Amino acid sequence: MIDRETFVELMSGVCAPVTVVTATSADGRPHGSTVSSFASLSLDPPLVSFALDRSSALLAHLQPGERVGVNILGAHQQELASTFARRSRGPGLKFDGVAWSVRAGLPYLPESAGWTAGRVERHVDGGDHVLLVVGVEEAEPTSTAPLVYARRVFGTHSRLAVAS
Ligand SMILES: Cc1cc2nc3c(=O)[nH]c(=O)nc-3n(C[C@H](O)[C@H](O)[C@H](O)COP(=O)(O)O)c2cc1C
Repeated sequence: MIDRETFVELMSGVCAPVTVVTATSADGRPHGSTVSSFASLSLDPPLVSFALDRSSALLAHLQPGERVGVNILGAHQQELASTFARRSRGPGLKFDGVAWSVRAGLPYLPESAGWTAGRVERHVDGGDHVLLVVGVEEAEPTSTAPLVYARRVFGTHSRLAVAS
């Protein structure tokens, strides 16, 4: 077995996307959390996945069959990443003071680097996390520079300087 610190240090060196995953609860309230484990899973059929901590408040609203939105954050949205990484102090409160709207029935953050929405197809056991497999129903790419996270800092992606 490797120790926890070594594993955390290894994974901090893996550059990850930054998204805000959203859901609408049965009472119509918005829910959202910052999620970096978002990844493409399958092209045919189109599937994406992400992992949520079993203690995540959002997880309760993303059971198999429920709808989910993914706002892929842009390099200018670091503050939103921090806002949605805070523990929920009550239903919908993370959205206070945030510019958002409803798109396809889901909380949507305008001016993000990308948007996708779909339905949770299944949960897969992932130790202290749950892997959610999502069937993609809607996708909007943009050319906005993405926000990325590595070594505990936010950044963005850019082309390497070409060696002369
Ligand atoms: C950059 C970044 C990426 C994160 N990625 C994940 C993730 O993939 N899965 C997860 O469960 N939590 C992730 N978190 C932590 C959650 O955003 C945080 O625990 C949040 O408070 C969960 O809120 P909730 O309980 O309302 O779901 C991430 C936090 C940051 C800052």
